Amino acid sequence: MINPTLAEMATYPFVRLEEARLRLAAEGVEVIDFGKGDPNEPTDPMIRKALVDALPERAPYPLAQGLPELRQAAARWCARRFGADIDPDTEIIPTYGSKEAIFSLAQVLDTAGRIVVFGEPAYPVYERGALFAGAEARTLPLLRQNGFLPDLDEIPHGTTLVWVNYPHNPTGAVAPLVFYERLAELAEERDFLVGSDEAYTELWFDSPPPSALELSDRSRMIVFQTLSKRSSMTGYRSGFVAAPPDVIAALKAYRPTVGTAPQEFVQRASVVAWDDERHVDETRARYRAKREVMIPALEAKGWEIVASEATMYLWVVGPDPEALLERGILVAPGEFFGPSGAGYVRFALVPTLDECRRAAAILADL
Ligand SMILES: Cc1ncc(COP(=O)(O)O)c(C=O)c1O
Repeated sequence: MINPTLAEMATYPFVRLEEARLRLAAEGVEVIDFGKGDPNEPTDPMIRKALVDALPERAPYPLAQGLPELRQAAARWCARRFGADIDPDTEIIPTYGSKEAIFSLAQVLDTAGRIVVFGEPAYPVYERGALFAGAEARTLPLLRQNGFLPDLDEIPHGTTLVWVNYPHNPTGAVAPLVFYERLAELAEERDFLVGSDEAYTELWFDSPPPSALELSDRSRMIVFQTLSKRSSMTGYRSGFVAAPPDVIAALKAYRPTVGTAPQEFVQRASVVAWDDERHVDETRARYRAKREVMIPALEAKGWEIVASEATMYLWVVGPDPEALLERGILVAPGEFFGPSGAGYVRFALVPTLDECRRAAAILADL
């Protein structure tokens, strides 16, 4: 009765973390949850007000192509941030966050029976999307000695879609622009498309990371952006895809069937969010303050922090997740994200600054 792909699938790893959190909470242990990457930062009041102001007496079905105002705001942002000239009518479509769009890309493209490639450790959705689409999922290891970038020469012949995700979850690694340039060349030579999941481009601490949108030839690049992390709006569900017109046309044809356009009041709040950078600066400052507490606390234990240049994550060699859990510090074991994550632990800096200070004190005492 049940789709075998679903039946064979392991529990989504974060469901297991949530179970651990509930169990500890029931035992009365204060849990400081560095597990799941769901920001606890407040959404800027200006964005919340825009949502409330936009709440209509009656909310009709939102159209898949989204409001022109939102597509234009997204295009303006791409121009400001990446210098990319993107046509809001033919090269952008809003999405319900980015997860659903990442999941379904393999169904929108002709991937059944073909190879879809992604690096691991990874966000689990590239694989799941590929499997539900009947594609063959293949991984490339992301290793420390290569800066957690895949060896692009290892992309198998016959690949139809390659996923990349920089800044990277879980390692926090950043890819230089030359990486995207090489990927675009290979995509042309070998005739594959690239899904570039750029959920974390705005959570940086030194210099803004590049995007596949900065390439002079974007003809094979399908870029996924989201307000979830940039604007701490995970629950709003708002993102967009920027891609060549033929891919956007395919998404416009596919998405009304699924019905995943964001609500118009969310779209109107999203216009305000994409047009403002002040709140994003403030968000980065809050994560920076948490890094300044946690990095020395972890290093003082003799644990090494690798990559972790951007994103809300610290990728740490050495800690025992079970021992941390006993003391109420919940982290994600690296192997949750794939075999190459073994030996690492991911700290998502989502607890408050005070909680980070308490966690640092617990670590000092460990
Ligand atoms: C790498 C990566 N991509 C995409 C997403 C999806 O985010 P959203 O659907 O909230 O836009 C996440 C969320 O954690 C993520 O870590």
